Amino acid sequence: MPESQLNLDRAFSAAVSAGKAAGAIQKELFGTDIEIGYKGRIDVVTNVDLQCEREIIRIIHSEYPDHTILAEEESQKPKESKCKWIIDPLDGTVNFAHGFPLFSSSIALEVEGNVVLGVVYDPIRDELFTGKRGGGAFLNGQPIHVSGTDKLEQSLLATGFSYHIREIKNNNLDHFGRFAFRAQSIRRAGSATLDLSYVAMGRFDGFWEMNLFPWDMAAASLILEEAGGELSLTNGDPFSLYRNEIIGSNGLIHREMVEVLKLGLKQSD
Ligand code: IPD
Ligand code: CA
Ligand code: CA
Repeated sequence: MPESQLNLDRAFSAAVSAGKAAGAIQKELFGTDIEIGYKGRIDVVTNVDLQCEREIIRIIHSEYPDHTILAEEESQKPKESKCKWIIDPLDGTVNFAHGFPLFSSSIALEVEGNVVLGVVYDPIRDELFTGKRGGGAFLNGQPIHVSGTDKLEQSLLATGFSYHIREIKNNNLDHFGRFAFRAQSIRRAGSATLDLSYVAMGRFDGFWEMNLFPWDMAAASLILEEAGGELSLTNGDPFSLYRNEIIGSNGLIHREMVEVLKLGLKQSD
């Protein structure tokens, strides 16, 4: 299909079908004997990540064979296309591998550099978070909105840590320590896409993480924006999918989060 005729509703349906198909695989194989391999010292990949990724790509490519795919596990040949699907087939692999029931599939479509739709599906709770640019954010079809918490001290935050925590300088432990004294509490739940989606629907008030990849942020950052949230880099500069870090908040506590993160940035100069 020529890209000029891209029908967003149709692309959205393809993303939902693909996200749910991956979720069905995850639900079926959760708690069974899975094959675990290592990409790094603690960075795992399972046969489920690969199976989900292949199924998502199969569904997307059956509708859009000419679109580019950026997926976490297996590199794909880029196509001459303005449309790029950004896919995390299983976000929360460590949780999955340990039988901790919090993980999702995440699919976004970027057109000429702008994410236009995002889908995050948690098969255990059967929660489908969706967003279309300019069209709002939804949980299982119902509109969602960020929380109204306006003080960091009363906020529940979320964050995560890189698989390279042992090797990198910017390992987030100092920021975590500062936020532990400033926020009400912090969760490290193990799925960045769900962390951001939970900010979008008010379970969390804010999330920050560094050393992320575009597939960790693409779908859920759009969902959060559409739910009335605010995004930026950790120093408060405008958010970019390709800068590996994010603050996503309800907007009301965003400045306070930037201030705390900037304290750490100054000390590590
Ligand atoms: C990871 C999760 C985790 C975050 C890591 C990510 P994966 O993704 O989102 O919460 O802290 O930085 O790499 O490996 O489970 O897809
Ligand atoms: Ca991920
Ligand atoms: Ca993943």
